[in-house]
Amino acid sequence: MTSNGATPTLSLKGVNTHYGAAHILKDVDIDIYPGEMVCLLGGNASGKTTTLKTMLGYLKPSSGAVLMDGENVNGWSTADRVSHGLTMVPENRRLFKRMTVKENLEIGAYLREGETLDDDYDRVFEMFPRVKERLTQKAGTLSGGEQQMVAMGRALMARPKVLLMDEPSMGLAPVLVAQNFEIIQQINTAGVTVFVVEQNANMALSIADRGYVLQTGKIVLNDTSEALLANPQMRAAYLGDV
Ligand SMILES: Nc1ncnc2c1ncn2[C@@H]1O[C@H](COP(=O)(O)OP(=O)(O)OP(=O)(O)O)[C@@H](O)[C@H]1O
Ligand SMILES: [Mg+2]
Repeated sequence: MTSNGATPTLSLKGVNTHYGAAHILKDVDIDIYPGEMVCLLGGNASGKTTTLKTMLGYLKPSSGAVLMDGENVNGWSTADRVSHGLTMVPENRRLFKRMTVKENLEIGAYLREGETLDDDYDRVFEMFPRVKERLTQKAGTLSGGEQQMVAMGRALMARPKVLLMDEPSMGLAPVLVAQNFEIIQQINTAGVTVFVVEQNANMALSIADRGYVLQTGKIVLNDTSEALLANPQMRAAYLGDV
């Protein structure tokens, strides 16, 4: 692990989250250190999206704390957290389908209104040349793979320090899944800390430094990717071994 006494960029400490009477996250502890790529694995309805919503402040924990750079941000709005460098690529991309690709990208930079965005566009186009070719096309008419590129591009327009990704491989053909993870790796190598939620455990662990496994709202495993890939419990439950 890469802690080395550093302050985590993002943490959950003893977080419990409820939807009404339903207790979803149970004493969840997660630490994500600067520059790491960490994945959160788990089956359907285990609480993965709820974890991301709690990090972003869409949901308030009923107890416990969200910390950014060591500071308790429970009282911060989502916009404050985004200004501080937290950005999410949501489940199913969530593009504005009737707006153009360019307009979707612009929205990613909404907190920097009035600033020139030329460098940001260039960075996105360098990573996704295809997006540049489609700028004036309505986002809803793009292929699934192209929509995923725009969703990642939109997130990069916010100049994130930490990128949260909710199941980036969902609904994509295997070849696109592999491409997608290569791009996520490039984003991480460029200095962005990445926290990626996935059901595709093999793919996520092949690029992440560490992983957490969530089962009905509890972290049941937390280790390096190498150790998780070798863990028999993990292999039986999540990695397709029988
Ligand atoms: N707005 C809500 N109101 C009530 N219950 C909710 C709400 N959102 C999620 N839940 C419940 O919380 C639990 C965890 O949901 P969550 O979306 O976090 O799971 P997930 O791990 O992301 O699943 P998936 O892999 O299917 O996306 C589920 O049982 C879900 O029904
Ligand atoms: Mg989900």
